[in-house]
Amino acid sequence: MITLGIDTSCDDTSASCVKDGKVLSNIVFSQVFHSKYGGVMPELAARDHLKNITFTVKEAVTPIGFNNLDNISATYGPGLIGSLLVGLSFAKSLSYVKNIPFYAVNHIEGHIFSLFIENKISCPFICLVVSGGHTELVYVKEMGEYEIMGRTLDDAAGESFDKVARMLKLTYPGGQAIEKLAERGNPIAIKFPCSKLKDYNFSFSGIKTAVLYYIKNNPNAKTIDVAASFQKAVIDSLTNTTFECALKLKVNSIAISGGVSRNNKLRERFTKISKQYGIKFYCPEKDFCTDNAVMIALCAQHYFKNKIVSPFNIKANSRASLIRS
Ligand code: KG4
Ligand code: ZN
Repeated sequence: MITLGIDTSCDDTSASCVKDGKVLSNIVFSQVFHSKYGGVMPELAARDHLKNITFTVKEAVTPIGFNNLDNISATYGPGLIGSLLVGLSFAKSLSYVKNIPFYAVNHIEGHIFSLFIENKISCPFICLVVSGGHTELVYVKEMGEYEIMGRTLDDAAGESFDKVARMLKLTYPGGQAIEKLAERGNPIAIKFPCSKLKDYNFSFSGIKTAVLYYIKNNPNAKTIDVAASFQKAVIDSLTNTTFECALKLKVNSIAISGGVSRNNKLRERFTKISKQYGIKFYCPEKDFCTDNAVMIALCAQHYFKNKIVSPFNIKANSRASLIRS
């Protein structure tokens, strides 16, 4: 079975073909122009998706052949509404014209499925989805059966990387730039507070403000130390809360996915602590941490196998929840 996946939830136009779980093609067209604004401009993102969607899908499908597609899937949310509408409408039109089934996929569920591109993981497990738009600690009882154990109450972890990068005059997206700068810095030079909340929730807006005031009050501070100390505080918060939850639920496996899971220090920390507790640790290969359509197609194949139908009239939903009502 060959599935076309499409994701246009934020600033990447992505299309992929997956055959029975195997990646046949994966095209990601990143809208680099947002870097000059220091963040994603929603209106411009939607317009650029419109410009790029046709050739991105064509590039992903041409080697396979449009007539060989068995079904089509696209992200319906969460994400930027204008961006979502482009991929969703395009996928629905194609499915209508080709008269093949259509599946609408939740973007966060897609990030959970990105773990299966290269791994086999037994449920139940805990997955920390940590990206520019989300920080959700998900208890995966079965694929498709989720419980949100915690989430950010304000900024997403990736968003805090992006905002601090902007304060340090680094390029957007900021996660990679901070990670690179932090390599030369001292992570214990500055103590940035990262609020510890009840119920496995997270908060990253306080640390962002703390960094802002620190830079204002210490104009000669070494930016390498600011970057390293900030990164350590965020990683401490993510790991402490995730492992606390994992130990309470007594899971044997733990996973991270989403753009921030590209971060080497975060991956290393999870690897180390998992070993200490005898828990298996999984993360996607780096190219599949950030937004891609392979994860959307994989999720759709799961829907197909489990006879989960998607209503064709499903609407784009910028705040779509992982938990189906
Ligand atoms: O998953 P993604 O592509 O988009 C969303 O669904 O939000 O994640 C993008 C986010 C950005 O905030 C970016 O700064 C962050 O992932 N990111 C990183 C790294 N690479 C990307 N954060 C920390 N360290 C990295 N190496
Ligand atoms: Zn994402």
